[in-house]
Amino acid sequence: LTAGAYNVKRGDFAQITDNDLTHFQSIIGKDHVITDHNDLEMYNMDWMRSVRGQSKLLLKPKTTNEVSQIVKHCNERKLAVCPQGGNTGLVGGSVPVFDEIVLSTQRMNNIILIDPVSGVLVCQAGCILEAANNQLSKHSLMAPLDLGAKGSCHLGGNISTNAGGLRLLRYGSLRGSVLGVEAVLPSGEILDCLSELRKDNTGYDLKQLLIGSEGTLGIVTALAIQCVQKPLSTNLAFLGVESFSNVLSLLRGARRDLGEILSAVEFMDQDCMRLVTTHLDCSNPISSHPFYMLIETSGSNTGHDEEKLSAFLDKIMSSGLAVDGTLATDVGKLQSIWALRERIAEATLREGYNYKYDVSLPTEHMYTMVEESRKRLQDVCLSVFGYGHVGDGNLHLNMTSEKFDPKVLSMIEPFVYEWVSKYKGSVSAEHGMGFKKRQYMGFTKSKSAITLMHRIKELLDPNGIFNPYKTLPDP
Ligand code: FAD
Ligand code: MLT
Ligand code: ZN
Repeated sequence: LTAGAYNVKRGDFAQITDNDLTHFQSIIGKDHVITDHNDLEMYNMDWMRSVRGQSKLLLKPKTTNEVSQIVKHCNERKLAVCPQGGNTGLVGGSVPVFDEIVLSTQRMNNIILIDPVSGVLVCQAGCILEAANNQLSKHSLMAPLDLGAKGSCHLGGNISTNAGGLRLLRYGSLRGSVLGVEAVLPSGEILDCLSELRKDNTGYDLKQLLIGSEGTLGIVTALAIQCVQKPLSTNLAFLGVESFSNVLSLLRGARRDLGEILSAVEFMDQDCMRLVTTHLDCSNPISSHPFYMLIETSGSNTGHDEEKLSAFLDKIMSSGLAVDGTLATDVGKLQSIWALRERIAEATLREGYNYKYDVSLPTEHMYTMVEESRKRLQDVCLSVFGYGHVGDGNLHLNMTSEKFDPKVLSMIEPFVYEWVSKYKGSVSAEHGMGFKKRQYMGFTKSKSAITLMHRIKELLDPNGIFNPYKTLPDP
């Protein structure tokens, strides 16, 4: 889809001239000022292949100073900019809508510091999460977040979307782990909040404004993040479960019986299993069930962890809360079971067009939302299914149809958002608002909060050059 399908008008921005190109070349060199249509293709298209921009210019700076000079020029000239990391975002925020300049952090991938004592990682924004983890693991450390996009997403992108992921249950929201951020503001000024301190109560916590602001307030150029000890022992139970109420009982039981070693609790329904086993080279290691759960423990003492987990598994199998299951302790099996859950998004795209929703709901209503959507859409969709971070009250509700159909979309929206609003949830738990979700913010956020967001945007970016048409609803 292009912007036309969303009824958006191009803002009053300047068009790029030859003088602009020459200026950018003088800052970052000819090779990193890209105008070739084919080279731009993958930067104009999102991961889900659901939105496409028409940018004619891609810039790849290497340093904060270069970003600052580029942005200063864009602001003076009123040229719009779309910051882009790994382009794995799921709400259309990372690609231009019209002809915004794509500013990619791809070349900004230096690790600046790993402190093995404090566990602090300082790096440039374009470091890929998995690459950073590979370096961290040499010091027995790991990043406090993990997500299916780890092989492509940038830490700067993670911060800009406040990514959640598979370990939020254990290590908390990224907001709590980010110690410092350096960013270039729309004026071109460099905001230096690159503290490495665990504790720092000096005035307003400005980095929090940048975390989760999806490139609308600043371009994150570097960050400091509190990493965690890499566990010495990891166990993963994959369970077959007969009902969603049993999923919730298992979540409660896991919290109670596994306590401090619990590191992930995820669920997926049987349609998800069908998708990954049909479209990918994955196979179900247990028998077929309406629901599956992944319950992971991570700790420092193998014997202790295994003892705790096997007592828990004995209990839930004999009570019938779980009816089948398998346990993974070696890396190969751990990875193949995690793939069943992490690759659902990828498998979904193989089936057709994907309508993707990422909502927060009180856990007792989570799966009712899927069931009600299924009832409503069964005649017009190929499938309606749910999975997600059940331990965090975060449901990924998805539908597929052969190709994009506006009639199907009108049956889904605002239905889904009204439902979430009724149960006091959030229309975006972790993916953000980007381009596709921004108009729905008002369903679960107060008018007063949205008004203040607009004022902050106006204050920091009076020309509106950073990621226009994204994140905030029209006033
Ligand atoms: P991009 O996609 O490039 O950009 C995302 C947004 O951030 C855009 O608005 C962009 O303009 C802005 N941005 C990027 N870099 C910067 C920067 N340096 N400064 C300012 N703004 C910037 N998300 C979750 O929360 N949890 C998950 O479990 C999860 N799993 C995923 C699994 C898969 C397979 C995929 C494809 C995506 C998943 N995501 C998940 C989506 C998630 O938001 C992204 O993967 C990730 O956080 C975005 O990082 P990125 O570098 O790809 O950013
Ligand atoms: C996940 O948890 O798998 C991601 O958020 C991606 C998705 O929602 O599909
Ligand atoms: Zn998720």
